[in-house]
Amino acid sequence: MKKGLILYKSKYGATKKYVIMLKEELKEKFECDIYEIGDFKETTLKSYEWIVYAGGIYASGIAGLNVLRKKCKQLKDKKTAIFCVGASPYNEKAFYELKAHNLKEDLKDIPIFYGRGAWDESKMTWKDRTLCKMLQKVIAKKDPASCEPWMQALLGSVGQTCDWTDQKYLLPVLEYILKN
Ligand SMILES: Cc1cc2nc3c(=O)[nH]c(=O)nc-3n(C[C@H](O)[C@H](O)[C@H](O)COP(=O)(O)O)c2cc1C
Repeated sequence: MKKGLILYKSKYGATKKYVIMLKEELKEKFECDIYEIGDFKETTLKSYEWIVYAGGIYASGIAGLNVLRKKCKQLKDKKTAIFCVGASPYNEKAFYELKAHNLKEDLKDIPIFYGRGAWDESKMTWKDRTLCKMLQKVIAKKDPASCEPWMQALLGSVGQTCDWTDQKYLLPVLEYILKN
């Protein structure tokens, strides 16, 4: 059976949930190895047909991309996709900016996909919770008309526990993997 490699970085579990779903969705066609990016040992990527890197988004940065760069040097010779997971609803402009900010140099031509994750302040580290609360306070003072969609979403989620993870977000990445 052909093999695929799924690497990921997930602080609070939503990204991990997606990679497990992805493996399940592909099980009839591919044998998938899944590794947390920190645990992945640099080896040859030759045995893999494709690679998907999935990372949570924190303060507009996709987690783990630098480690991915260091560990997988031959990415451009492979069929590769990046799947990023954030709390904001999908927005074309915001996604374009996220892509420009995160996928530079060697990563810039890699197809990137988005899935909505989860939000649970009670699970966050003290540092993350404080950072989010500060940001929410700053946004709350803004004129609502000038708020970006992600700012509105952040305000709407104050004190809430939300899980937006949904298999539907994997469809575009599945289509990319399955096409020749
Ligand atoms: C400190 C912090 C910063 C965040 N920044 C963003 C952000 O810039 N954009 C976004 O869409 N979501 C942001 N989020 C929400 C996370 O992306 C979301 O909770 C996602 O599910 C995290 O993935 P994980 O559960 O795999 O860790 C942030 C969350 C935290 C804790």
